[in-house]
Amino acid sequence: MAELEILNNAAVLIEGERIAAVGRYADLRPGTGNVPRGVEVKEVAGVLFPGFVDCHTHAVFGAPRLDDHQRRALGEDYKTIASLGGGILESVRDVRARGAAELAGVTGSRIQALLAHGSTTIEVKSGYGLDPAGELKQLRVIRELAASGRATLVPTFLGAHAVPPEFRDRRADYLRLLCDELIPAVAREGLAVACDVFCEPGVFDVTEARAILTAARRHGLGVKLHADELEGSGGAELAVELGALSADHLAGISAAGVRALAASETVAVLLPATMVFLGKPRQAPARRLIEAGAAVALATDFNPGSSPTVSLPLVMALGVSQLGLRHAEVVTAVTVNAAAALGLAGDRGQIAPGMRADLVSCEMVEWREVAYWMGANLVTAVWTGGFACPLPSGSVSLGLHVEA
Ligand code: NIG
Ligand code: FE
Repeated sequence: MAELEILNNAAVLIEGERIAAVGRYADLRPGTGNVPRGVEVKEVAGVLFPGFVDCHTHAVFGAPRLDDHQRRALGEDYKTIASLGGGILESVRDVRARGAAELAGVTGSRIQALLAHGSTTIEVKSGYGLDPAGELKQLRVIRELAASGRATLVPTFLGAHAVPPEFRDRRADYLRLLCDELIPAVAREGLAVACDVFCEPGVFDVTEARAILTAARRHGLGVKLHADELEGSGGAELAVELGALSADHLAGISAAGVRALAASETVAVLLPATMVFLGKPRQAPARRLIEAGAAVALATDFNPGSSPTVSLPLVMALGVSQLGLRHAEVVTAVTVNAAAALGLAGDRGQIAPGMRADLVSCEMVEWREVAYWMGANLVTAVWTGGFACPLPSGSVSLGLHVEA
């Protein structure tokens, strides 16, 4: 993860939506070698990165959760707030009450903001519907925005984000709804590529998560897990057992969990902004994971409760200062390894021949600055599939749209 290839005065040759060649500009000038005359030349100052891959977001939601934020500041705990009907369930009430068009409107602005911060591929989870209408509404919003926008959106079904209030006293019935109705419906309509479960003591335990994800696998979905986020409960081990694409969060991972991930192909997705925003002193043991041989990725976890940030560069800076990663490691973590967490490592996440031409240019003298200017957006241009994306000139609204 610490080995990056850095080229100076370089050029990238793009053909269609793929990268055809990378090398010194002297060798890739139009009319030289294999480069035909008439190729359109676009000069870029600063540093060009592979488009960033945000492999864990909950971007489809309505209102921000400002009250939760302040309650935690004054000493209440995330899980206590959730058990009193706040937290995730507050966003569930909100999403259920909004129409698809309104949700698509606010989510579209947030996707634009993620793209403007350099994320060209964005995983987006459902999980604030928790009933057939709400979950399918969220997933259809993602599909609509994927079709109309310039970022690649990778949809994940997270019907197991919490037990909805109407099933509080009959959770077995909710598990049946998930396994027998919702997962088959999502798979039939091609609305998600993977299924995720919030596997955490007090939310879904390992046995329940195994049942849900086994059903998902049977229906051809990939598997992901919110694992060992706040307390360890064997979530990482379950992810490995199921051949998951990724095990995410991991602040409470056990030594056995670290060993299991290290010996597997499952990517450890770490979300340092979440622990910072929740005011938790603990972070996932990133160095131990890397030294054991695990593949580590970083993501924003963009959501209204625990991580309202759209900035992967901010998360990279936290990766260095909170997780103890090297600058090179955090770049790998938001490109190649994040692509692997979505099953896309052969397709994107590197500036290399054959890869999808998703690129980000940043205004900086040295590449390490990408993980240094904490909170500043240094992205100057973004390309997806070889074409420049129009970026917002001013600030992008992240909250609810204000009625005119
Ligand atoms: O990844 N942990 C569960 N899900 C989100 C939080 C969602 C919320 O609070 O709305 C997370 O942190
Ligand atoms: Fe999450």
